[in-house]
Amino acid sequence: MAIIYNEKKRTFSLHTAKTTYQLKIGNLNYVKHLYYGATIQDEDLIYLVRRYDRGFSGNPYESLKERTFSLDAQPQEFTTQQQGDFRINSIEVQNADGSFSFNGRYRSHKMYKGAFTLNGLPTAIATENDTVDTLELVIEDSVTKIQVTLLYSVFEEADIIMRAARVHNGGEGEISLKRIMSVNMDYMNGRNLDLVSLPGRYGQERQVERQPLTHHVHKIRSGRGISSHQQNPFIALVDRTANEEYGSCYGFSLMYSGSFIAEVELDQYDQARLVMGINDRLFSYVVGPGEDFDTPAVLMTYTHKGLTKMSHNYHNFFRNNLNRSKFVKDVKRPILINTWEAAFFDFDDEKLVEIAKAARDMGVEMIVMDDGWFGKRDDDNSGLGDWVVNEKKIKCGLPKLVSQINDLGMKFGIWFEPEMVSEDSDLFRAHPDWAMEIPGRRAVRSRNQLVLDVSRREVQDYLIRSINGILDSANIYYVKWDINRAITDLWSNVLPADRQGEISHRYVLGLYRVMDGIIKTHPDIMFEGCAGGGGRFDSAMLTYFVQYWSSDNTKPLDNLKLHYGSSFVYPVCTMGAHVSTASPMVPIETKAAIAMCGTFGYELDATKLSKEEIEKCRKMSGYYHKFYDLNFFGDYYRLTNPFEPVNLVAWECVAKDKKKALLTVVTVHLTVNGPQEYIKCKGLLPNRKYRITGDGNEWTATGMALMHAGVPVPREIPEFTAFLYHLEVID
Ligand code: GLA
Repeated sequence: MAIIYNEKKRTFSLHTAKTTYQLKIGNLNYVKHLYYGATIQDEDLIYLVRRYDRGFSGNPYESLKERTFSLDAQPQEFTTQQQGDFRINSIEVQNADGSFSFNGRYRSHKMYKGAFTLNGLPTAIATENDTVDTLELVIEDSVTKIQVTLLYSVFEEADIIMRAARVHNGGEGEISLKRIMSVNMDYMNGRNLDLVSLPGRYGQERQVERQPLTHHVHKIRSGRGISSHQQNPFIALVDRTANEEYGSCYGFSLMYSGSFIAEVELDQYDQARLVMGINDRLFSYVVGPGEDFDTPAVLMTYTHKGLTKMSHNYHNFFRNNLNRSKFVKDVKRPILINTWEAAFFDFDDEKLVEIAKAARDMGVEMIVMDDGWFGKRDDDNSGLGDWVVNEKKIKCGLPKLVSQINDLGMKFGIWFEPEMVSEDSDLFRAHPDWAMEIPGRRAVRSRNQLVLDVSRREVQDYLIRSINGILDSANIYYVKWDINRAITDLWSNVLPADRQGEISHRYVLGLYRVMDGIIKTHPDIMFEGCAGGGGRFDSAMLTYFVQYWSSDNTKPLDNLKLHYGSSFVYPVCTMGAHVSTASPMVPIETKAAIAMCGTFGYELDATKLSKEEIEKCRKMSGYYHKFYDLNFFGDYYRLTNPFEPVNLVAWECVAKDKKKALLTVVTVHLTVNGPQEYIKCKGLLPNRKYRITGDGNEWTATGMALMHAGVPVPREIPEFTAFLYHLEVID
């Protein structure tokens, strides 16, 4: 059992392979957080908590005038409300009598083997190789009878703890949740912590920002109904001195695809508190007597070995424990060509077959028919919601088209945008009330489209039925599932006025139900997520999608930053990346080398490429296969930071046994008559000898030399040259 309860000390110690997390039932039965960090014994760490009389920080009534006990100054496992703790809180509830208060104390606990699951929300799964134990600890307010169960699943080997909270209304009247966080994490000293987050925008997702904690509330949030391009539901708190190899790093990845918040407060005594969960803006949720409310899960990891190790913990976990699709590991993903940047809305069945034929010579194995194949859809003004084949474009019908593609020896993929509706569509004409619109107002249009009220059962059922109908009508191998706008006009025609604060969350639950009904019922189809690029790229989505389209921005040099930022939490095998015609000054081989730091594919009109370009692509497609295992399953190392003014950008994928590696170096700036530059490898076997090829030279060197002295990168080369160095142990 990875969880040890010491009955005498009333401590719970949660052990992963390299970390310990400790909580304790303390004074007056409040649950205190004592520790999260490198492994320690099951000793009681309460000695860390010192108590002083703190002015203006009140004391619970039962502490009997003991002025040194204040919830405002003590580390909590989950907060109270209006009990004298003025810091950010993890729960805000309006009780049946109208009061706003919650005073949760330890009530009970249980422990069991395996991971917890949540009602309607995705969670990580234990595989046969994992040791997983769960603690469920119940705190209760003795007046309102509201219980909060704190859920902890300890994935021992992975060094991951999955947390969530479940609210149970044990009282007699309805309560209204105004805020309920998935995680509350208190740090006894947070003065030297930095906050790392992944902000961005459309076309520039997941850039990296790092800022020192100062004495206020730092807030990372999406209020857009999707986890968003602007912020990603991942943050890390790291030591000010932490770098790639060294220093404490705490990672938090929220398994949620809607509006979220992560808040971190450095308080008056330099203690830090982090909370993360559903965004409380435009949120209130009624929980009836006897009912439960589950928060989404958070995946936490800790390491004292720096940012690379933190990323590796996530990469390994995301590859092993999020998604059971055979396309994660067992079945190699085909090289695809997507028609979007090739033809936009302007294609028909013949054109698709032509593109496929030309692409086959590039080593492409699958063609994906993007937006424009359904309803009346010649531009973005119409058709969304009508999931029927447009026979003016696909004249031969879908099954015939797919079989023509299959006859070329290629697979066929298709695009959907299930959650949206165009006003000019049969669906909207039949069900105008299915689009979200606030009574008396006109809905905000975005990309000329409206949002379906996916919180409604009949809308969910329509989507499952109509999309499954298409998927079952032909030999479809792949689906790209898109969403192309943020969500506004939160209103549902089927909920009463006092429950409209539930829509945003109900939408997300509805979406997961639709995805269960389509994705989980089609295990032989490979699903890729997309939200106008990477606008909903999160760990919940990765339980459904084996990969996620990283960005609509296919400019290779921008993608260097995008991949770098994404790699803080997401593994290479999840990042959709294509070679396109953007940035003509960059050679196609360099574009391909960069797209290989992702799932690799093409996004161009293959019929327009010259023979020479087709040949180059064919060669690069060969490299995709050659390096597939390294890229998809190896350990990824960031070797340079593309946000700094560097001449070279480099990264490396090293096999788990360290005997092979792919080192990619891209020249982003060629200085005239500049110095010789070197890239130092990481993660190799120091005492073994490697053969290195990739820049026209071939030589051997020990892992030690390659890691400490480096690889000299040629400089008499054309602008934007990329090198794919293959390293292989020879003795
Ligand atoms: C989004 C996607 C693109 C493409 C278009 C189609 O922008 O990110 O890849 O599918 O929609 O409308």
